[in-house]
Amino acid sequence: MRVLSGIQPTGRFHWGNYFGAIRQYIDLQGEPENAFYFLANLHALTTVRDADVLRQNTMDAAIDLLALGLDPNRATLFVQSDVPEVSELCWLLMTGTPMGLLERCHAYKDKKAKGLSADAGLFAYPVLMAADILMYDSDIVPVGEDQVQHIEVCRDLAASFNHRFGETFVMPKAKVLDSSARVAGTDGEKMSKSYGNVLEVLEDPKPLRKKIMRIVTDSRPMDQPKEPGTDHLFQLFSLFANDAQRDEMAAMYRRGGFGYGEVKKALADLAVDHFAEARQRRQELQAQPDRVREILRDGAAVARRKATDVLRRAQHACGVK
Ligand code: TYM
Repeated sequence: MRVLSGIQPTGRFHWGNYFGAIRQYIDLQGEPENAFYFLANLHALTTVRDADVLRQNTMDAAIDLLALGLDPNRATLFVQSDVPEVSELCWLLMTGTPMGLLERCHAYKDKKAKGLSADAGLFAYPVLMAADILMYDSDIVPVGEDQVQHIEVCRDLAASFNHRFGETFVMPKAKVLDSSARVAGTDGEKMSKSYGNVLEVLEDPKPLRKKIMRIVTDSRPMDQPKEPGTDHLFQLFSLFANDAQRDEMAAMYRRGGFGYGEVKKALADLAVDHFAEARQRRQELQAQPDRVREILRDGAAVARRKATDVLRRAQHACGVK
């Protein structure tokens, strides 16, 4: 069984990335052959247009994943573009992709709805993602809820290719955690770089505390009881809290008579503490860029071996080989 997932190096990782996806990558690692994780720099090209920035982001993202607990002895970590086979597989899939399927995909649809111009890369984004998944015979794809639609597209494309050309691709399944499928940002909307509402995983404690204190809350009076289930500050607190801490906080909400400042302070303490070790490890890794490059090179070699096999199978099935 193979687990695979990708993450875009578009900036520093935020709590949504971590609790929705990265934490699953770490929990699901085991044997390097069975856990493939990559930095989706070809996808990031749809938003990052500066070469040096993209290179730097890719390196930073690798360091952050390793600092957060991704272990190269238990997982294969690589950069998407180091496996060029994926671009060819993307083309093979593209020729069987109905336009209507992509027109319904949210990244493209949302951009169009805002009146922004979209390029063909953004339009075809889900096809490249399907190639990423099918390229390695992946069974399980751990992601946040926003990627589920893309995995459905991948399943559609795999099924129609298999139907047209005979059994070629393994059918993958999304794996989403209920408790953190859609982490809220500082304004209560989905946490996302493009909404400017993120809290970064490895941010220094001081600026992180400041951002937490600025989380938007409602203006109901302090003594009024509040329902924790619908409050995004409570949701964020719950990401870090143990059961006892969460129950105690929920009881305080229901009783009323507290200020949101208290909740924010408790959240900041937990968050700073939670990532302390990773911040330390990041500093150590930053001083060893050659070691990080070597991990990525070794990872790409493992991934490419598998990709070569699967590409050959797909080329043969559709008649280009
Ligand atoms: P990206 O870089 O946008 O997001 C990386 C992962 O973080 C999850 N995520 C969230 N989860 C919960 N709450 C949030 N607020 C939140 N924000 C982000 C995303 O669901 C994702 O799992 N298209 C992918 C990258 C990709 C990929 C793939 C993933 C490329 N090829 C193949 C899986 C398989 C993406 O945009 O990730």
